[in-house]
Amino acid sequence: MPSLSPHELIVVVNYGSQYDQLILRRIRECNVYAVFVPPTATAKEIRSLGPKGIILSGSPRSVYEPNAPALDPEILDLGVPVLGICYGMHLISYIFGGKVAGSDKAEYGWAMLRLHAAGKESSLFKTLPEKSQVWMSHADSAKTIPCGFHLLASSEDCPNAAIRHDTLPVYGVQFHPEVAHSPTGAALLRNFVRNICGCRGDWQMDSFTDKTIDHLREQIGNERVLCALSGGVDSAVVAALLAKAVGPRLSCVLVDNGLMRQGEVELVASEFTTRFPDIDFRVIDASDRFLDRLSGVADPSEKRKIIGAEFIAVFSREATRIQGVKYLAQGTIYPDVIESGVENSHAATIKLHHNVGGLPRELEFTLIEPLRDLFKDEVRRLGRELGLSAEMIGRHPFPGPGLAVRCLGAIDRRKIDLVRKADAVVLEEITLAGLLRDVSQAFAVLLPVRSVGVMGDAGTYENTIAVRCVKTDDFMTADWYELPYGVMKKISNRIVNEIRGVNRVVYDISSKPPATIEWE
Ligand code: XMP
Repeated sequence: MPSLSPHELIVVVNYGSQYDQLILRRIRECNVYAVFVPPTATAKEIRSLGPKGIILSGSPRSVYEPNAPALDPEILDLGVPVLGICYGMHLISYIFGGKVAGSDKAEYGWAMLRLHAAGKESSLFKTLPEKSQVWMSHADSAKTIPCGFHLLASSEDCPNAAIRHDTLPVYGVQFHPEVAHSPTGAALLRNFVRNICGCRGDWQMDSFTDKTIDHLREQIGNERVLCALSGGVDSAVVAALLAKAVGPRLSCVLVDNGLMRQGEVELVASEFTTRFPDIDFRVIDASDRFLDRLSGVADPSEKRKIIGAEFIAVFSREATRIQGVKYLAQGTIYPDVIESGVENSHAATIKLHHNVGGLPRELEFTLIEPLRDLFKDEVRRLGRELGLSAEMIGRHPFPGPGLAVRCLGAIDRRKIDLVRKADAVVLEEITLAGLLRDVSQAFAVLLPVRSVGVMGDAGTYENTIAVRCVKTDDFMTADWYELPYGVMKKISNRIVNEIRGVNRVVYDISSKPPATIEWE
């Protein structure tokens, strides 16, 4: 269970739908703090968190199947407004004696929602048009309206698309207001949290910043805190928070593993030494050590193991050289917490590979994770608030094991160098085209494939670079990005002309799933 929050709170019972994180994000976009609780949460546990509202999420399950995740019915009697979305609506219907059943055909895609008279008057649909497009994704639906409820809206294939209890503040919607494909969905969720739950919107980044800095100051006292910088946004924001909180009692260590993006070490170093001159900032150049150990290694899990072990060795050695460290700060963010299954027993499997580069346990420091409650866009907002540069904050995510996962097959220095240069071309051209923010992640991958080509009059037999650009909200699913041909052309020309050893460039047009973002 989450801990008590000083903010107005919306609790989202997480039944494991693919859209669950979007519910939290949409609520937080209304400046209202929202957290997940597991389906096993009791009414008493939820009441102890003092929520202003409760949302029951969707789920891939059916409410009538054995061991389906349930809802403590007393939650509906807490007097706190409840909104059930898809599976959440089925649970409400089921508990109140309505009939929920599957259809022959699952309904998946756009539907036109039509409000009834009660819907037009309902606070949930206030200011929404009489007809609006919504996104449906379900096999089951409420076949009857449960006792004590009335109908607010229907769609052609789903007569009971939105319901409300006659006296209790309990609502259900069959569609998914949280997804972008429901254009009025954000307004509906805003109506729920602001008008029905009465939240004023006290989740503001500036007050989060001040409160967190005060809290860190109090927690760390006169002790020393150590922070490992990776070059990524999350660790940079943690370090900036700590720099503001405890200044000279912060030591930052950046391990240069020789696998970072072009200019990354220099960027982080100049950012921190100029903006926070009173902190103890150290760059450890361990690139030879990493690249020697990785030379000739082709197996991706072996690469990760080596990088993880080397990182621990280098970082631990440096950490023991710094006197009096009591705390270790880490850039864990809310999706990491969710994905590790700590908050939600129904979450997908742990992405262990993302934890390579995780910090050494044997160092026996007390862990501090000030970004544990934040989503990536909130971390970026916080970073801006703390004065980090747009270049630092706007960086695309980059895997802990760095370019090693983007150099397929046996690694050597030349190949790492080659993929680094190609990556820099991709990022430069995307930046020049003004697309850096619209593309969620862009990079180059060196494939272990050589093919014939011609350059001048000579034949070549050289490497292939794959360019990958994706658009995603949460990095769990992603679409390949429709890069304009002109940008593709520039990238391709520059790569083959500027980088010796490459004669062919391909563009990756695979979505996730079934592909992943990285190639490995
Ligand atoms: P995949 O490849 O799983 O990637 O679709 C999803 C997101 O995670 C990043 N990623 C990693 N991040 N360590 C990290 O810190 C890793 O080992 C790792 N592997 C993938 C990937 O870049 C994408 O943003």
